Amino acid sequence: MIATAERYASPLHYAKLPTEVLVERIRRRKEEQNAVILGHYYQRGEIQEVSDYVGDSLGLSQEAAATDADVIVFCGVHFMAETAKILSPEKRVLMPDPRAGCPMADFVTADALRRLKERHPEAAVVAYVNSTAAVKAESDICCTSSNAVRVVESIPRDRPIIFVPDKNLADYVARRTGRDNIIAWEGYCYVHDDLVLEELAAAKREHPDAKVVVHPEARRDLLERADYVVSTAGMAELAERHDALIIGTERGLVDRLRERYPGKRIIPLSGGAICGNMKMNTLAKLAWCLDHGEHEITLDEGVRSRAELALRRMLELSGGWSAPTEEERKLEEAGVRPSGCGCA
Ligand code: 13P
Ligand code: SF4
Repeated sequence: MIATAERYASPLHYAKLPTEVLVERIRRRKEEQNAVILGHYYQRGEIQEVSDYVGDSLGLSQEAAATDADVIVFCGVHFMAETAKILSPEKRVLMPDPRAGCPMADFVTADALRRLKERHPEAAVVAYVNSTAAVKAESDICCTSSNAVRVVESIPRDRPIIFVPDKNLADYVARRTGRDNIIAWEGYCYVHDDLVLEELAAAKREHPDAKVVVHPEARRDLLERADYVVSTAGMAELAERHDALIIGTERGLVDRLRERYPGKRIIPLSGGAICGNMKMNTLAKLAWCLDHGEHEITLDEGVRSRAELALRRMLELSGGWSAPTEEERKLEEAGVRPSGCGCA
């Protein structure tokens, strides 16, 4: 039970506690409440260390759907915690800081999407998981950066697709699938969209032998110069096999991989690629959240159940076996990914 003096303490008070005390507190509360901590790779290192599962958005949503914990504490951004609630409505889903939103998700609202759908009634709607529950509820199927190509390929070629909200991922998918009927929303991720060619050229000059791997939320000019375009989990897999990698994504993943492989050259394409929203979660806020049972995600049931349909369609496509995409085939050839594995 929480001590009376701490009942009214704010996360700021918790921030004054030593790290070991916070870590022990988190461990104890987690056990008492049968809670699981899910952490995205872009979280601060100390949050990743206390997380039961660290992954990319696909892995985390699969974990949220499968866990038998009573409470899910989501250390990521708001849409990720919402996704956990959509998939596990009977569980309590908590976030250490409810203000940790994703600016890319905020580019599109359900109202604006409905208006676009009215103009293209024949189109299927694919929502990148980086979107609100209300937007997912307006969509036919979701995708993550790991399975976007596969999801789009599951839609008949002659059917137009409204793709929200990431224009860079939409462009990448359009080129990979050879489709010219994708209507892309004009959103983007400020972290990945800010990666520029000059930084890549500088990193290449210093490490000419390093392979370049870039997240598909980056712009086309960068993706065209990458050896691999893969999602966050794909990057972690690549780091297992390569001794020198230039990585075009958020610093949290790069720092994590550097710690994991101290003997390798894991080079950030940009030292400044930091998602301030992801970093809003701290150990102090996490301990406070478990002590106080806040901040809880709640959703309108109508919105939740429609959003669940779109997410489940995606998970069905990502769970079982399916023919490897070209990118996956390349990874298999490079020995990075077990052959025949259909999971993204
Ligand atoms: P993934 O975890 O799907 O690679 O997405 C990266 C991202 O920007 C999450 O917000
Ligand atoms: Fe959103 Fe980009 Fe931050 Fe991911 S990295 S949470 S897409 S702003």
